[in-house]
Amino acid sequence: MKSAKIGLAGFGTVGAGVVEGLTTHADIMASRIGIRPTLGGIADLDIETDRGIAVDADILTTDAFGMIDDPEIAIIVELIGGTGIAKEIVCRALRAGKAVVTANKALLAEHGDELFSLVNETGSNLYFGASVGGGIPIIRALQESFVVNQFRGLRGILNGTCNYILTRMETEHLPFDEALQEAQEAGFAEADPTLDINGFDTAHKAAILARLAYGISVPMDTICVEGIRGLAAEDIAYASDLGYRIKLLAILASHDKTVEVRIHPALVPKQHMLASVNGAFNAVMVEGDFLGSGMLYGQGAGQKPTASTVLGDIGDALRDCSSGMHRTLPTPSDDAPPLCDIENIVTRYYLRVNVLDKPGTLSRVSSILGEHGISIDSVMQKTEEHQGEHVPVVIVTHGAQEGNITHAVRLIDEADIVGAPTVRLRIEQ
Ligand code: HSE
Repeated sequence: MKSAKIGLAGFGTVGAGVVEGLTTHADIMASRIGIRPTLGGIADLDIETDRGIAVDADILTTDAFGMIDDPEIAIIVELIGGTGIAKEIVCRALRAGKAVVTANKALLAEHGDELFSLVNETGSNLYFGASVGGGIPIIRALQESFVVNQFRGLRGILNGTCNYILTRMETEHLPFDEALQEAQEAGFAEADPTLDINGFDTAHKAAILARLAYGISVPMDTICVEGIRGLAAEDIAYASDLGYRIKLLAILASHDKTVEVRIHPALVPKQHMLASVNGAFNAVMVEGDFLGSGMLYGQGAGQKPTASTVLGDIGDALRDCSSGMHRTLPTPSDDAPPLCDIENIVTRYYLRVNVLDKPGTLSRVSSILGEHGISIDSVMQKTEEHQGEHVPVVIVTHGAQEGNITHAVRLIDEADIVGAPTVRLRIEQ
């Protein structure tokens, strides 16, 4: 049987999972692919720490570039992360005609145009299945199984850490910080959890999905990205009373001439399939003109689920190296649809205003909303939850334009009846 050598750059948590897979499951992979994967090198700045998996000391190196230049190594797996040295490694390997497997969502989101062009110019292959959804094959599905579809929309829970935190906050009534600490201890969060919590990990993944589904480039500073830090336990409880769960969603939708991409916490009806995605699980709902609706669900983070997808990509790379197949990647065309301005989206809103409990207060709030064309669906006053002389009032609106809501909330918060800034969350049906 033929074999091919793999070089791994980045011996962290997922890297150790990949090494374990290549060590213990090489026979299974070889029997299914017809080519045996062998580990030809592991590059990391730290080659001393025990990762809990036995490796031949001869293949450990601190020189990632030397490993790329080794003519024996056909496939480079980049699991360093970030956009610094990882980018140099990926570009150098592609230029050297190697197949590259990466799970690096920041790199693809921020430098996707350059990398995809480089792949097409060099005729090398780039596989990035593990960059979105951990163990879920959403990238593969968009590139292959769903390739005929025009996508009406994709909605995803794409960050295991945030979903874990939200689930624990809801079910165990934990404060945010305690739930975050649990997520870190469970190994879901990034080394710096800010990227998870402020929504940017999800935004990077959404940008990769948008590139594949709509052929567009999504600069991070052009879209709405709101994370879950600061989400109050009381809003999770009030949303639950109203029949909703709060989830951090990536929402992609195509309109007449624009594409909408936004990332924010949203109220999702409890009976919606996305509402039942709990813990570190991820899911992506896809609506395509041929497909109809479909949902992919699975472990969105963690060592082995992510390593599973990386190893799947390695399998593809082995086959393609053997057959000499080049996989062209889509680069944005001049007629790619522009991104929709968040101010123009129309959705329903949950507003928690903190107002004086006295006659006329609600009519002032509803007047401001009415003057902005915002129609109220329901109002719930939490009288027992007084904060000083102010009381929380939860308002659910009918569909309203974001720009109108923003302006109305500003005016409400400037009024002398308000004790704290209004909490505004979007509702996804
Ligand atoms: N930190 C990510 C998450 C996993 O929690 O989903 C890798 O993307």
